[in-house]
Amino acid sequence: TANDLASVLAGARVMPVLTVRRVSTAGPLADALAAGGARCVEVTFRTPDAERVLKEMAAHGGLAVGAGTVLTPEQAKRAVAAGARFVVSPGFDAEVVATCRELGVPVVPGIATATELMRALKAGLDTIKLFPAEPLGGLRMLRALAAPFPQARFVPTGGIDASRLAAYLAHPAVLAVGGSWMATTDHLRRGDHKEIRRLTAEAVEAAERSMT
Ligand code: 3PG
Repeated sequence: TANDLASVLAGARVMPVLTVRRVSTAGPLADALAAGGARCVEVTFRTPDAERVLKEMAAHGGLAVGAGTVLTPEQAKRAVAAGARFVVSPGFDAEVVATCRELGVPVVPGIATATELMRALKAGLDTIKLFPAEPLGGLRMLRALAAPFPQARFVPTGGIDASRLAAYLAHPAVLAVGGSWMATTDHLRRGDHKEIRRLTAEAVEAAERSMT
């Protein structure tokens, strides 16, 4: 349920966003992320084999694997069939939301304005992705947007890296921070799982420090 997802995100604090081309790397990638301390990841539907990658990563067991960049009801169905525990979208689409609801899978819509946030809240969704967080104004935008909507819980994503992570996590309305900096296209292309593990561990440690 949506509440379960909120607690998974709140426990994870950081969510690597993964755009993976090669299915063969899914297993080692899941190992590296889990070894780095990640608990929750998003596999984007931006590559031809995203579904198979998601399936392999979900089979790993140590990670809550969601689908990202879900733009259509059709993709939402495919994502859930592949084992997605939740669905993330860069924007708010009522049909995607309705499909996820029918499928019984939590959905995290992206919002970039107060109007979009109101639409999400009206649809009964209070865990939302602030996207793209940094270009929108970063933490200043998040603070300003969170103020009138005390029930909203945010997963800021977009342009965030290790240097800004702790500041976002310090905001009480932030459940978790998403981003590709822990496993960039470049790392994935090179198969640099060692570096992915290192950057993930660095982020997880920064997140833990920010809570004490
Ligand atoms: C996403 O789909 O959430 C974003 O591409 C992740 O944003 P980032 O690549 O700027 O971290």
